[in-house]
Amino acid sequence: MCGIFGYVGNRQAGPLLVEGLKKLEYRGYDSAGIATINNGEIEIRKDVGKIEEIERKVALSSVGGTVGIAHCRWATHGGVTQKNAHPHVSLKNGISLVHNGIIENFSDVKARLEAKGYHFETETDTEVIAHLIDSHYRGSLKDAVLAALKELEGAYAFAVLSSKEPGTIVASRNECPLIIGVGKGENFVASDVPAVLAHTREVVYLKNQEVATLTATGVELFEKTGKKLRPDVHHITWDAAQAEKGGFPHYMLKEIFEQPFAVTETTEGRISDHEVLIPEIEQLLDVKRIIIVACGTSWHSGLIGEFMLEEVARIPTEVEYASEFRYRNPIIDTGTLVVAISQSGETADTLAAMREAKEKGATVLAIVNAVGSSIAREADVVLYTKAGPEIGVASTKAFVGQVIMLYLLTIHFGWRRHLLDEQQVRNRIRDLRLLPLQIQQILDEREEIRKLAKRFATRSNALYLGRGINYPIALEGALKLKEVSYIHAEGYPAAEMKHGPIALVDKEMPVVFIVTKDDRTYKKVLSNIQEVKSRGGHIIAIASKGDKEVNGTADEILRVPRNSYLLNPLLAVLPLQLLSYYVAVERGFDPDKPKNLAKSVTVE
Ligand code: AGP
Repeated sequence: MCGIFGYVGNRQAGPLLVEGLKKLEYRGYDSAGIATINNGEIEIRKDVGKIEEIERKVALSSVGGTVGIAHCRWATHGGVTQKNAHPHVSLKNGISLVHNGIIENFSDVKARLEAKGYHFETETDTEVIAHLIDSHYRGSLKDAVLAALKELEGAYAFAVLSSKEPGTIVASRNECPLIIGVGKGENFVASDVPAVLAHTREVVYLKNQEVATLTATGVELFEKTGKKLRPDVHHITWDAAQAEKGGFPHYMLKEIFEQPFAVTETTEGRISDHEVLIPEIEQLLDVKRIIIVACGTSWHSGLIGEFMLEEVARIPTEVEYASEFRYRNPIIDTGTLVVAISQSGETADTLAAMREAKEKGATVLAIVNAVGSSIAREADVVLYTKAGPEIGVASTKAFVGQVIMLYLLTIHFGWRRHLLDEQQVRNRIRDLRLLPLQIQQILDEREEIRKLAKRFATRSNALYLGRGINYPIALEGALKLKEVSYIHAEGYPAAEMKHGPIALVDKEMPVVFIVTKDDRTYKKVLSNIQEVKSRGGHIIAIASKGDKEVNGTADEILRVPRNSYLLNPLLAVLPLQLLSYYVAVERGFDPDKPKNLAKSVTVE
């Protein structure tokens, strides 16, 4: 995934482009660059490294001109080199271009262009787009782009300039996100909304294969056929501050602290004291089966949803990795509801799985955080987790929002399918209303977790174990630790440990048990703790406040308040999120920009 930002107006573009890139840096930080049109010529500055480093090296922000495009890169085609950094050019018509995505047929197109005499400087698929547009240029950049799109296959979002049309940016997308920020006497193009919020709240979400032309005085929108469209301008309500760090050292910590807010905002308008309100699913009440498709952390929230939906709504539910589902020729009929879960709404595998399900006749419901994203737009029904923009690569508040939305769905299905009476609905709503305060309690008592992180940071491996509805939290805790601190960690069902992983246990291996008090598997997990203890494992227990039985079983105990069986996981996950954050910081890493990772994987 990469970040794109463009500006056209009457202000100096350089500083604005750098500021926009900094808000997109979580999308890619291998390299960055800027192209502007300065005195009728394309001026380019780019290098490898993070934006601050490149600013020091090549003074990105002092590039001249009032129109420009900028890019921060997460390498997919071609190594991390200065030459492969964007923007890329095709100089016959002064073309300069920045791109996010993967052009799947770039080799074929490259061969055709080479036969026409084009010479390639880089290993990137992006340079192919620049030369292709150049080869179609006959005096109109917009028309050249429309012609080029006919030859491109794959995922892209790009912005392109030509020194022959100095006051214009042309932009287009397919599968990768791109928005237009509509200003007064100036206009912006960016990979997502937070990058333009400092300048405007009026946003156009480009749809697949639409082409936009931006000048200082206006924005025009075209279909891929060239037919003119009326831009659909959305007014963004959340403010730039929400998308900034708000005084926290990292987005990840800020977003962990926003989780009480994620619960209340996601439930806002969807519950009274005696009922859950999800009118969007009125036509779905008699579904026979549910298949959840997702990736990563969103897949973990799906596993929790499976417990909820089967336990309360008695709907057969299975959870599939989206990347596996789409190549399995799944059995789907009209009684199947496919639920796509995605924070970004742009994950290529989840989008493709959703399309596969629709082609086979399923109704698709999307649980998404990013408004206007591809998955949100293509689903039959979309339910937004209103966690606010999630910038940190490690998903935290969006995960909580996803589980809350699955919980609401569960109660709604249970009530409307006459499996819950009114008092039971009231009780489950009461449990839900307790959650924000209970989450806040854990956040307020985080010092103990920070101290534990100092000891944990020296370890090389870890096991996370849980049972029942806490097994997905074991997976999630392990993923959080891996992705921000680079300590290898595995999540496992606690009972499975004796079928192999227990061979790994020694005093160097911290074993984190989720052993919150419940009447299901709690006793069994205590036995699993004893098994590890007898082999000299170092045990960290996530246990319920007031639980005395667990005392003396673990080397360290982190306490969380008690809620219901279905909601306890949202309390157990908090210490694990905080632990992974503090371990990463203790090990000297930036948890917002973990190596090799991107916030949204918009490529397969
Ligand atoms: C989670 O912390 C990771 N960043 C990653 O696993 C993420 O959950 C996954 O890529 C899915 O992203 P999505 O929710 O935006 O679809």
